[in-house]
Amino acid sequence: MGKKVAVFGSFVVDLMARASHLPKPGETVKGSIFKMGAGGKGFNQGVAAYKSGADVAMITKVGQDTFADVALNVMDELNWSKEYMLYNPEVGTGSAIIMVDEQTSQNEIIIVPGACSTITAQEVDNLRPLLSECAYVLLQLEVNQDANERLVDLANECGCKVILNTAPYQAIRDEFLSKIYMVTPNEVEAEMMTGIHVEGLEAAKKAAQVFFDKGVQVVLITLGERGVFISDHGREEIISAFKVDAVDTTGAGDAFNGGLLTALSEGKDLWEASRFASALAALSVQKIGTTPAMPTREEVEVFLKQHN
Ligand code: RIB
Ligand code: NA
Repeated sequence: MGKKVAVFGSFVVDLMARASHLPKPGETVKGSIFKMGAGGKGFNQGVAAYKSGADVAMITKVGQDTFADVALNVMDELNWSKEYMLYNPEVGTGSAIIMVDEQTSQNEIIIVPGACSTITAQEVDNLRPLLSECAYVLLQLEVNQDANERLVDLANECGCKVILNTAPYQAIRDEFLSKIYMVTPNEVEAEMMTGIHVEGLEAAKKAAQVFFDKGVQVVLITLGERGVFISDHGREEIISAFKVDAVDTTGAGDAFNGGLLTALSEGKDLWEASRFASALAALSVQKIGTTPAMPTREEVEVFLKQHN
């Protein structure tokens, strides 16, 4: 097992429906499958890291309602510690409405973060002992940003490196970015943050430079089926994605980020870590759902052997 790590982020219940096409405004479409399950970018990434072998602490916030039980039950089933679970009895657990197009496997999501957007300064400050023990903390942009800002300051004080998955996109301050060790935008987020349309290696290098100029040390841009661009400001390249048939791409980015955290905690280099992370993403798109689609370590190992 690798070094201790943490994921700080959202938990929401995903309410997912699949249909032969996504409804247009005003249209009602009859769907084929409905599923309710654990979700939220933070929780998805935490589960992906945990199931793929990381010693990972999950920090998220839920209400005290039946939706909160969805998170707690998953953690019990996985035998995963609930020590850092936060509660807000006044605000309900967050939820997300996810519509998936069966033909293209593309999705549309509305998320209402609820309790996980009410993380307080005191709750962040209480994490000092944990962060002092962690090599990395992974966060996203789905919880209240003042909590993220405070967490990043604390992590830096504790010598814990911050990996920021810039999803879902929102404008962030340069000062915040300057304290981040590694960013992992997808191509859309990278374009919104740098103004550069990341279509090939040269454009990706330019986008990465924008992040380097702001103080980030490692840039990893996920390019969907085209693979992943990786740069540590020295070596820069695109590694290709594994070819699989996708049934549901929701949460693929989360699978990737969780896998990345596991691999980095084990001391794998960036290139090896990206390959490991890509295997998680490839496995997750072959299953319906987000958290429930995250593969086990064994499944990842088998997949990597088959795709050598
Ligand atoms: O990245 C996928 C996730 O985004 C879903 O689980 C949904 O909850 C939204 O937060
Ligand atoms: Na999936």
